[in-house]
Amino acid sequence: MEKKVINAALLGLGTVGTGVYKVLKAQREEMEAKLGGVVEIKKIMVRNLEKAAARVEDPSVLTNNWEEILNDPDIDIVIELIGGIEPARTYILAALEAGKHVVSANKDLIAVHGRELLDMAEIHHVDFLFEAAVAGGIPIIRPLKQCLAGNHMEEVMGIVNGTTNFILTKMTQEGMEFKEALALATELGYAEADPTADIEGLDAGRKVAILASVAFNSRVVFDDVYIEGITRITAKDIAYAREMGCDIKLIGMTKNTEAGIEAYVCPMLIPSSHPLASVNDSYNAVFVRGDAVGNAMFFGRGAGELPTASAVVGDIFDIVRNIRANCAARIGCTCYKDVPVKKMADTRNRYFMRLKVEDRCGVLAELTAVFAKYQVSVAQIIQKETKPGEEAEVVVITEEVREGDFRTAMEELSGRQCVHKISSMLRVYGQE
Ligand code: HSE
Repeated sequence: MEKKVINAALLGLGTVGTGVYKVLKAQREEMEAKLGGVVEIKKIMVRNLEKAAARVEDPSVLTNNWEEILNDPDIDIVIELIGGIEPARTYILAALEAGKHVVSANKDLIAVHGRELLDMAEIHHVDFLFEAAVAGGIPIIRPLKQCLAGNHMEEVMGIVNGTTNFILTKMTQEGMEFKEALALATELGYAEADPTADIEGLDAGRKVAILASVAFNSRVVFDDVYIEGITRITAKDIAYAREMGCDIKLIGMTKNTEAGIEAYVCPMLIPSSHPLASVNDSYNAVFVRGDAVGNAMFFGRGAGELPTASAVVGDIFDIVRNIRANCAARIGCTCYKDVPVKKMADTRNRYFMRLKVEDRCGVLAELTAVFAKYQVSVAQIIQKETKPGEEAEVVVITEEVREGDFRTAMEELSGRQCVHKISSMLRVYGQE
């Protein structure tokens, strides 16, 4: 219990780094009462010393030399907030190997190299914590590893990307098309200059890999996650979905089934009565189902300077308590199983399909005959009245079916003369 001042080093002073600096400063007075010790930021590694000087009280803490941090035996905690795979991976591995505890918000890295990092932490008996890597300020890693440890988790699904949730909210509430909503998100600072990782679902896919690994105690990596983004969603899809009692959200889904883990990110129809349907704008939420707890939902800010810093500082506090109580590395890697991840074709869902078809007698019968051939049962169907000579638009929601069978039916349909175009195919969450 002797260590009262615990020195930490920040790697990166961007948005989240600045937030962590501010939150630690705001906590300074109370920290000793809360932790029995204080955290001092002894070094901050930045690329541009001059630019960073304006953001800190004492510019002498700034450095651009990693070795200064690595080789300083007084630095106990390294807080990695530079993001990306390299050099973050090399820095974290070296810090762990040197016996330093590490906090990281780096989902790109953890979704790919999580096992290597956690193994290194275990070998050197130090903590590697990453609460901020999934859904920013929302507590979900620690709840899954600790508070919900008495459950067999069955399903973890979430809206884990604020940019796409903002875009879909604008499309839903204001009837905007995707491009217009993206332009607004960019103008308001919700979307980055290059929005690819968000709109193509990659950012959410990394979070799903981490969530699945933690929830089901079996390692799932980014490449295991099937990913579709929101770029093909139209205001028309959303309007039809609403007519059918659903909203469209970019869902990160992971399920623990007897045949293996399902892990995917895609825009899905979810019943408007589901709690996730009311998570709007740039908010995130994670909905979990465990055999003991039943349903539980975690809601809040998934990004941003202070919300993300809140999660990082929570990890730092945990480490300080562990250091003070001499019990570091209490909770490391929790992946003690090796469960296979299912191919997307073997997952089961209900499906929404919008088709342009010839408007003549017998076309619906032809569609349903193809569905029947592949065990696809129709749950809801909409066809609006058309003017003579115009093609008809048919919208179908199916009962639950294996994805591979549904895709085979779709392929056969797209080869039929009466089907002019399959405009959309989306998955639908939940039972009829
Ligand atoms: N770009 C992400 C989002 C935040 O829009 O939610 C960082 O993962």
